[in-house]
Amino acid sequence: MQLKFLKQFFFETFAAKPEHLFFSPSRINIVGEHIDYNGGKVFPCAIQIGTYGAARKRGDNVIKLVSKNFSHYGEISLNEEILYQEEHQWMNYPMGVVRSLKERGYSVGGMDIVVWGNIPNGAGLSSSASLELLIGEMINQLYNDGTIPKMELVYAGKDTENKFIGLQSGIMDQFVIGMGRKDNAVLLDTNTLDFKYVPLNLHEYTFVIMNTNKRRELKDSKYNERRRECDKALEILQQEFSVRNLCELPLCDCEKYKKLLHEENLYKRVYHVIFENQRVYLAMHAIKENRLSDLGKLLSESHRSLKEYYEVTGKELDCIVNAAQSHADCLGARMTGAGFGGCAIALVKKDKTDQFIQEVSKKYTSEIGYEAEFLISGISDSVHELPVVE
Ligand code: GLA
Repeated sequence: MQLKFLKQFFFETFAAKPEHLFFSPSRINIVGEHIDYNGGKVFPCAIQIGTYGAARKRGDNVIKLVSKNFSHYGEISLNEEILYQEEHQWMNYPMGVVRSLKERGYSVGGMDIVVWGNIPNGAGLSSSASLELLIGEMINQLYNDGTIPKMELVYAGKDTENKFIGLQSGIMDQFVIGMGRKDNAVLLDTNTLDFKYVPLNLHEYTFVIMNTNKRRELKDSKYNERRRECDKALEILQQEFSVRNLCELPLCDCEKYKKLLHEENLYKRVYHVIFENQRVYLAMHAIKENRLSDLGKLLSESHRSLKEYYEVTGKELDCIVNAAQSHADCLGARMTGAGFGGCAIALVKKDKTDQFIQEVSKKYTSEIGYEAEFLISGISDSVHELPVVE
């Protein structure tokens, strides 16, 4: 259905059939929030909600980009220097990827591209990383015979955020979209980039994704501020502790950290980071050993820490998470992604999801004044090409 729609849209736009089709997932993070830039372990999975793309080669050095989701469209000339420009809106993400892959020495040529995604926009499910990896994989297949290592695409996406857009995000989103595996979560050590797949068997439970519909723009949010606070805390603590990042700090020395850091805020950030890192390890074991009520508790503890210590939740996320946590068929809930609005996840009994959604939805609307959106998704493979069937 989606592909038929995409092909038709491509034909209407470029008066030709696409030669290649692609899918790039979005992601949820089960636990391990705001620690991918602190050398921690994170535990995300790619989901079947994502961005579809259709492409064909052009004979010149121009990339023409059209999105079915946004009215803005345009061109990238490969003969000129590619620079970030606010007015290019969503196209800045493809532009950043093109620039980074060119700088990394890969060949990039002209393309006609249409994209269409079913990721709620600004919802913290990483629609930007999904688009970045989609464009990266198009360049990989159309101009490099599929020989670009997936990690290079991951880095090109991260470069786009860090150097082109100006968001000092970590590697988690691009990594799981570029390396994820169907029905598995990815346990990623962001310090070493070692990773392993963990089969995500939740038995009679499932994750319900709850979109608060409170949009957040990370570039202007406190994301970069949190990152600076962590860097500052690390610098101070490194005078006493020989660690490379905050996640290497021992759990038991909290009183010492408090004394050394002086500023209450810095201490709170560190407290969140080190205990969140431990929760990842505990959650991974809870899943492996089918202790789902323990997993639920860890999710809820993570939310509390993000609210009280890292201070990245806000009234909408707190409201939806509270409503979910107090439901009898929910084992636990937390915000997922960067926070400041966007989505939360709840671990809910499969055969009770309808009632759960109804009740949480009602509470949320009556308290916040507008509606939330609820999604359930399977776990997807990483970005990939799709067959072009007639
Ligand atoms: C965003 C960033 C990630 C990560 C999360 C918070 O999604 O892109 O790198 O820092 O926020 O865990």
